Amino acid sequence: MIKAQQLREKFLEFFREKGHAVIPSASVIPENDPTVLFTTAGMHPLVPYLLGAHHPEGTRLTDVQKCIRTGDIEEVGDASHLTFFEMLGNWSLGDYFKKEAISWSWEFLTGEKWLNLDPDRLAFSVFAGDDDAPRDMESYELWRSMGVKEDHLFFLPKENNWWGPAGITGPCGPDTEMFIIRDVPPCGPNCSPACDCGRYLEIWNDVFMQYNKQADGSFVPLSQQNVDTGMGLERTIGVLQGVKSVYETDLFAPIIAKIEELSGKKYGDSDEITRAMRIVADHVRTSTFILGDERGVTPGNVDQAYVLRRLIRRAVRFGMGIDMPQGAIGQVASVIVGEYRDVYPELAAKEAFIIEQLDLEEKRFATTIVQGLKEFEKVITHIKGNVLPGKTAFRLYDTFGYPLEMTIELAKERGFEVDVEGYEEAFKKHQEKSRAGSEQRFKGGLADSSEQTARLHTATHLMLAGLKAVLSPDIQQKGSNITAERLRFDFNFPRKVTREELDQVEAYVNEAIAKGIDVVMEEMSIEDAKASGATGVFESRYGERVKVYTVEGYSKEICGGPHAANTAELVSFKIKKEESSSAGVRRIKAVIGAN
Ligand code: ALA
Repeated sequence: MIKAQQLREKFLEFFREKGHAVIPSASVIPENDPTVLFTTAGMHPLVPYLLGAHHPEGTRLTDVQKCIRTGDIEEVGDASHLTFFEMLGNWSLGDYFKKEAISWSWEFLTGEKWLNLDPDRLAFSVFAGDDDAPRDMESYELWRSMGVKEDHLFFLPKENNWWGPAGITGPCGPDTEMFIIRDVPPCGPNCSPACDCGRYLEIWNDVFMQYNKQADGSFVPLSQQNVDTGMGLERTIGVLQGVKSVYETDLFAPIIAKIEELSGKKYGDSDEITRAMRIVADHVRTSTFILGDERGVTPGNVDQAYVLRRLIRRAVRFGMGIDMPQGAIGQVASVIVGEYRDVYPELAAKEAFIIEQLDLEEKRFATTIVQGLKEFEKVITHIKGNVLPGKTAFRLYDTFGYPLEMTIELAKERGFEVDVEGYEEAFKKHQEKSRAGSEQRFKGGLADSSEQTARLHTATHLMLAGLKAVLSPDIQQKGSNITAERLRFDFNFPRKVTREELDQVEAYVNEAIAKGIDVVMEEMSIEDAKASGATGVFESRYGERVKVYTVEGYSKEICGGPHAANTAELVSFKIKKEESSSAGVRRIKAVIGAN
């Protein structure tokens, strides 16, 4: 039986043989990209290169990327939904196009040396065409020339066969998707990969990224034709191992076994137990990857920190439902770190921190539950009749983190019913509001305001250099977030930074701006970068080449860019706020321009 690690290796080996450079997974928290909370696809860290920037490793790349998608968090617990997954991908940055991409996908899927899948079990979809882009006859003919039968090929519309952009604007294009035909009979004469009857399971997607979607909704051809592919590791290994659910693959077996041990229950004994175990396994795994990330955050109330809090609390809650003792999720995380430490050494390096944070959040949740209980006692005395309004149940959830299931249980004990419909309505309203919020985030995104973010990015480098000069050479970046309006920067420092010190840092940056220094980019090996005194995250598993950005006399940092061409573009620099971010970490917000 092929193991997940062998699939990772095979994929990279295959594309290495086809001239691709193997690059490491980027962080699951995008750097300097306010458009999304998490890295959702392998292409995401590569957006600047898909748009035409030069990648130091060349025009053919391949990797295994850590990805997080939490949009379907409520669906987790079924056979296939996951909030964290690994995406195997290969890219052509203006190099090869459809012909090579399709024939290599075919070779990897069916080749004896590779996945050796039976062509009769495979189906493919191609773009049917519309006003924005023509019907993709080329891909259709290419699949046919590989020997794919006509009735295994489907033309589908944009809804199914177009991928991207990752946010509102950016690179995208028609795609061709690859499916496993499962042992499920067709649901009707029109059964196709577009329906969700379960017959077709998508495992790989080749996107032909040749358009840049604009804010006005139009599609402008890109200067280069790219290929972006993504194969889901968990799903594909599930198919290859012939199991019914991703949770039964070798990736999850040790995690589920630990949960069985801690709960004293058996996976598969009832739907409820199975679902709870899957939720615990998934959520603890995702939390472990967020906490263990190079740019990891701790649980909190906004953005990534909030998602992390929600994941941990859901895991604790479902764990309680199957009698897992306090502290159990930390023990599950320990198994996860053990399973993944060879592939993602950052987890091993942060194991103690991961477990400490999980335990802390578990304790905080326990306090919250006590507070929620008090609030429940208070509201229940004011209710006339025997129905607890949905809005109240939602407030208990939203403000106190008190889960609906617990409210229902408590209410029942007192002879009350909960207006669940009303709760769901309130929930939906809240979701719509936060969705509108995240769309706003997308609108302020990198692709829309690239010049200003590039300048703020340069300001961030100068400020870090200034902080090192003024406060201590040991200052390191702990987090960075840039919107079109401001930069936000977290760094290690044990106390409040005085206004006087902040003034000195400002002066340092403004001096560099006033001198109008060119920002110079050089590509070099990570060893040379280190030797040159560049700062940055030195993390290399494949001896890759990196970009080093220098503002002569002020800053030298390893970074993917993009940056301003000259410091004069920044006009002036001002620190607006300095505050505590978490224990031992300070946060600065700053702006540039004529302020
Ligand atoms: N970016 C493409 C996807 O996520 C490959 O499916």
